Amino acid sequence: MIIKNLEITDITEEGNGVARNEGKVVFVKDALPGEMVNVRIIHSKKKFDQGEAIVYLEKSAVREKPFCMHYGVCGGCSLQHLNYEEGLKFKTHWVKSAFSKIARLNIEEPSIISMQNKLKYRNKVVFHGFFLEGQYKLGFYRKGSNSFVHIKECFLIPDDFIEMKNRIEELSGTYNVYPDEIMIRTNGVDFQIGLESGNTDNLNLLLNELKKEFPSIRDNIEISIAGMVFEVSAKSFFQVNLEGATSLFKIVEKMVGDVSHSIVYDLCCGVGSLGVFLGKAGARIRGYEVIEEAVILARKNAERNGLIDYEFTAGKVEDVISASIIEDNGVVILDPPRGGVEVIVIDSIVKSNVSRVVYVGCGLGKMVRDVAKLIEGGFVVSKVECVDMFPWTGHVETITRLIRNKN
Ligand SMILES: C[S@@+](CC[C@H](N)C(=O)[O-])C[C@H]1O[C@@H](n2cnc3c(N)ncnc32)[C@H](O)[C@@H]1O
Repeated sequence: MIIKNLEITDITEEGNGVARNEGKVVFVKDALPGEMVNVRIIHSKKKFDQGEAIVYLEKSAVREKPFCMHYGVCGGCSLQHLNYEEGLKFKTHWVKSAFSKIARLNIEEPSIISMQNKLKYRNKVVFHGFFLEGQYKLGFYRKGSNSFVHIKECFLIPDDFIEMKNRIEELSGTYNVYPDEIMIRTNGVDFQIGLESGNTDNLNLLLNELKKEFPSIRDNIEISIAGMVFEVSAKSFFQVNLEGATSLFKIVEKMVGDVSHSIVYDLCCGVGSLGVFLGKAGARIRGYEVIEEAVILARKNAERNGLIDYEFTAGKVEDVISASIIEDNGVVILDPPRGGVEVIVIDSIVKSNVSRVVYVGCGLGKMVRDVAKLIEGGFVVSKVECVDMFPWTGHVETITRLIRNKN
């Protein structure tokens, strides 16, 4: 089916234009707000249609030529066909709209901090292994699919990552090992590699060869951020965009207010970066994290960065946090993965007497879902701000401050 003269009025996080045809929503691949298009419908569902633009009757003035050869096929970026600053406006619009739709809350459109380094900003990548015409390849998820696309270039990561990835593809046959996943991380000088595969003996042989060819590969590396140094292991999380993370830390510091006499409960603390940053402002830090090796490093990192009063506990927050643990004059920082937290964590915060919560969310929908539960439990949103931590992608780091409604 062809629909003519369709006006695109919005854009989704996946980079699809949004239009309405006879009351039904139509998602249009590669179409931007303000454009007028003729569309071929590819999938027709009960509540919406999906299609592609076959003719642009009017093109957007802010449309740009995508710079990556994999754009539109790879699931990583979704905003390369749009001017960067315009993309930021859509990101804050998505945040406002998510609060309205999910939490039924009308917030002001938040501010967003843009990035100076818009390209090659990631210090970490995960490639997935797969076979293409019998050849072992490494790549990313294909857009909207569970299959993979072989990656030859990526403008979000340093060139060294591509070089190492290519070498692993070449060496896989020699060592008869085909990792399902490889993680590469750098601090700009040293590199860290994590390889996942059932065959550990051959994997170690491959890793030893890589270490010979790339002598800057280390087991644990040190990453400097905001005047602090953190040791990071391959299995632990660390902020992927240091410029963005520095802005994020400052926003959180501003939002928590004076913590010089408070305990900060850093839920999902990783190797301790955010907590240690606040600890340097005088807060007593209580961190909780599921990866045990990250907890050990968090303790080391707290000590080497001069903290005195800190405790880090290994375990799932939903298992280790309860209302009675959280002191009344404390501050809770929630910085979970994209899926948000279990409802029991929100219940514990609500049942405690803590008056301030700062939620750092990298998964917008799930963050607003959790915030909505905190609102139901008696908190009010007092500020929302964003950082463009992941330029050209549909992701936006959103920081929400909540305070307990005393009325
Ligand atoms: C977005 S990272 C934030 C890390 C840290 N705040 C930072 O800035 O470096 C989320 C962290 O939550 C941890 N995590 C995931 N699920 C968890 C759970 N159920 N309980 C505790 N930690 C969890 C992950 O291992 C990861 O370190």
